[in-house]
Amino acid sequence: MQKALGLVGLVFTCCMLLYVVLWINLHEKWTGIKGIVVSSGILWEATHKHIDGHTLINKTIITSALDLSSFRTTSLSKEENPSYSTELEASITPIPVLYKKNFMKLPEWEFEDVYLQDHQTRITTCPKSLHNTKDPKFREVVLPNIQLWLYRGQLSITEWNRLAHFNNPFGFMEYNYNEIKVVVDLIPKPKSSILLTVPGSAKDGCIRCAVVGCGGILNNSKMGKEIDSHDYVFRVNGALTKGFEKDVGSKTSVYVHTAYSLYASLQRFRQYGYDRIPQDKGIKYVMIPEGLRDFQWLQGLLQGKEATGSFKGVRPLKFFNGHFNESIFYVLHPDFLRYIRNRFMASNQLQDNTWAMYRPTNGAFALFLAIHTCDIVDAYGYITKDHHKYSNYYFERFKKTNVIFYTNHDYGLEIKMWNKLHNTGIISLYQRQENLNTTKT
Ligand SMILES: *[C@@H]1O[C@H](CO)[C@@H](O)[C@H](O)[C@H]1NC(C)=O
Ligand SMILES: *[C@@H]1O[C@H](CO)[C@@H](O)[C@H](O)[C@H]1NC(C)=O
Ligand SMILES: *[C@@H]1O[C@H](CO)[C@@H](O)[C@H](O)[C@H]1NC(C)=O
Repeated sequence: MQKALGLVGLVFTCCMLLYVVLWINLHEKWTGIKGIVVSSGILWEATHKHIDGHTLINKTIITSALDLSSFRTTSLSKEENPSYSTELEASITPIPVLYKKNFMKLPEWEFEDVYLQDHQTRITTCPKSLHNTKDPKFREVVLPNIQLWLYRGQLSITEWNRLAHFNNPFGFMEYNYNEIKVVVDLIPKPKSSILLTVPGSAKDGCIRCAVVGCGGILNNSKMGKEIDSHDYVFRVNGALTKGFEKDVGSKTSVYVHTAYSLYASLQRFRQYGYDRIPQDKGIKYVMIPEGLRDFQWLQGLLQGKEATGSFKGVRPLKFFNGHFNESIFYVLHPDFLRYIRNRFMASNQLQDNTWAMYRPTNGAFALFLAIHTCDIVDAYGYITKDHHKYSNYYFERFKKTNVIFYTNHDYGLEIKMWNKLHNTGIISLYQRQENLNTTKT
């Protein structure tokens, strides 16, 4: 009996020791290598004060104790040398699948707030750049070098095992390694990770961007000229300009979309004249990989074939009308999306059992992309406190429809966040003149 107990004790001790050794190695790998940032959870809250219960997330840090035995330690090489993966990683296997339903709220891993960083970032010389903001909290929270793009060669098994801890689109929880890996390896690596360059005409070195949402606040706004006067114009989802130029302008430099938003907007908004996605000369297409269907879409798009799964029978390439070119196509990295959620858009919903449904809107991701790639950002058609006065979309000119509050988004938080970004001078948010007194409180 004593012998048996001793044996159990010995096995237990060995397991613990192995666990500790593996964890330390694993931890070093994720935190010690160049290009990764570590910081304790910090958050730029949507409001200056704690109101409406938007308080800091109550942190419960979880250590990934699951099947650490599947992690063997290797020293992670750089993605510039994708050949490393085959040899060194042959002995590593993907972690067993984690299921969202097993977590009653957002699980916060010890490495939750650890993000890939890019070595190739733009150093701005623009004196008025939002990056020179005086807001100390914003400067503390923002990561100007955050990895923006996902592309081939990045998804080693080690990297998969990190990202498999986070739900989509912030990682790959519940997904299958081979299914995603095959698609990520089709995504072209951008020649440069710098999305936008300083225009030759800008003597002050500033990149001026307009980000245009679809909000009804733009109806009869006459903002078109002002929007088009920016160096670059970002648009999202149903980016309809034809017939609405006076209010929303006509130029599109960056079109931000998910597979679904690109596809469904063409169906839903055809009645308003939206019959093709923006195809301006020099345009860049930026995709938010929202879920599995986006990877199925991507596979079809990048192989010039029909997609499988949710988009079965659909040829993604046809929506680009011959304008598709790998060199103008970018896919956002799950680390960028998670960083935005965790540090700027941490909804209270993350603390209940519907946590996995929540994600910021495509418009939110587009706006934060602009904040990370431009110096001066002006937002138009974004949701404001007085949204009930306007239609859901600017192209609904003749029938007022209420804003639909989908449960996977937190519009209350977005209203406060856009207002705060405006009040702190980081962006300028378009608000109707007649409302300026009430919104600027
Ligand atoms: C894609 O765009 C690049 C840069 O504009 C150009 O050099 C290249 O020829 C284009 N490729 C195709 C297939 O159109
Ligand atoms: C859009 O603006 C026009 C002009 O001000 C107005 O007559 C119309 O009612 C507005 N449409 C909606 C849906 O609010
Ligand atoms: C807004 O405030 C200004 C100055 O405080 C005032 O003159 C103006 O009447 C106000 N406008 C509205 C619509 O309340």
